[in-house]
Amino acid sequence: MNDAAAYRATGLRYPRFKKHFTEFIGIGDNGHLWVDGLDTVALAERYGTPLFVTSENQFRHNYRKFRDAFQKHYPGTVEILFANKSNNGLAVRYIMNQEGAGGDAFGHNELYLALFSGVDPKKLVLNGSNKGVKEIEMAVANGVCINIDAMDELDLIEAAANRLGRDVDVGIRVKLLLEALASRPGAAFHGVGTIAAQARSHKWGMTFDQTVELVRRIQGMPRLKLKELSYHLSRMDNKADDFAIMARDLVDWSAQIRDKTGWTPPYLDLGGGWAWGRPEGHGPGGVDTDEVASFDAYASAVSAAVQEQCKKHSLPLPGLKIEPGRAIAASTTVTLGRVGAVKEWPGVKKWVNVDCSTNHLIRVIIAHWHYHIVAANKADVPATESVSIVGPLCSQDEIGQARKLPPLVRGDLVAMLDTGSYAESTGARFNAELMPATVIVNGDAVDVTTERERISDVIGRYRVPPRLIAGSFAGS
Ligand SMILES: Cc1ncc(COP(=O)(O)O)c(C=O)c1O
Repeated sequence: MNDAAAYRATGLRYPRFKKHFTEFIGIGDNGHLWVDGLDTVALAERYGTPLFVTSENQFRHNYRKFRDAFQKHYPGTVEILFANKSNNGLAVRYIMNQEGAGGDAFGHNELYLALFSGVDPKKLVLNGSNKGVKEIEMAVANGVCINIDAMDELDLIEAAANRLGRDVDVGIRVKLLLEALASRPGAAFHGVGTIAAQARSHKWGMTFDQTVELVRRIQGMPRLKLKELSYHLSRMDNKADDFAIMARDLVDWSAQIRDKTGWTPPYLDLGGGWAWGRPEGHGPGGVDTDEVASFDAYASAVSAAVQEQCKKHSLPLPGLKIEPGRAIAASTTVTLGRVGAVKEWPGVKKWVNVDCSTNHLIRVIIAHWHYHIVAANKADVPATESVSIVGPLCSQDEIGQARKLPPLVRGDLVAMLDTGSYAESTGARFNAELMPATVIVNGDAVDVTTERERISDVIGRYRVPPRLIAGSFAGS
């Protein structure tokens, strides 16, 4: 891989495969799919299926590559805040902490998990459109910056700060108009409309006038320290220029807000939504294609836009916060499923049933259909068939349509690549299915980082009111 040479210096040990899908995932000499130093066929036998297999070093590699791109191009401070929602396994958070990453947390539990992992609270931001008192208090108590996203949220924050006797950093999540994207078609995932129309219709962000009002009110609240304006271009596009348009608009808002209030944002938080791709042309379909901008292209375009607009408005260069989720997490993980019944309607369609389901990949599928499917135990056998990979649910449960794969039989193993973001963290339990286990691999070391769910985890939450028990048996 091209990147490997550059990153060897960092101490990560890069495996060599017959064919690489990513730096740490590829086809080994035995023709099986490997994650770093381990054969996925052996992992499936040892830990069972369905199974998420994550490469620790791919996480580290992706993070470093993303961070380095922005640090190379931007002359000011850059903080990378991993979007915890994309993969909120606790072990992943530890990896990100070791790398020095901050985090974007949504809601009480994500914030709790991040703090529990020992991340520096000053590197976290709390986002959310309807924050509750509990999570606001936790943020204030721990010194986490809160991005305000409702007018009366400000009162809740001030009350918490006064109650706890603590100062609190705050930002404001804004609703940019993105005029320059008003004629560009939006992502199918978000429904109809242009990128600008889709972005405006989201629940997120405060209008310009509301932002000015918030700033003025905060200026009269001694415990609140204004730190940033934030915007998240939500999974709209994969072109670097569009992110530069967003960054330009955000600097323009900063200048207008300064003119009205005298406050200049020390930080701009540019959110997530950075698409990702892979050089082999295995880039995901839908929004994420193999034509996706590189991290370097994003960083260069955004950095130039911020510098240019700051100069134009005589603004000091702000620090940047960036919240990548999928760009770091997606390519780190494969989901393994064991083949069961194989069924054919001759000449029409062939279905290969596996034991993992859309429950485990739901958001990956809804958002982009973007993962690649490989026969893990026959990874270098020519793909001579076009099959539909389906799971066991009573819905259509189609995990992959018309996927090119070698002939598969019961007992074979398939791997859904690129399922490290929004798979485990959005898993569902339709048909009372149990959630898979996750293992994290580093070289030839492997550890379970999420235990496989048990039936007691599912039925343990159910209650049957005594009157229903009585109604079932008494008098029968
Ligand atoms: C505020 C915010 N930041 C970052 C992200 C991460 O987005 P992505 O995984 O597309 O980079 C999200 C995703 O929903 C988000 O809402």
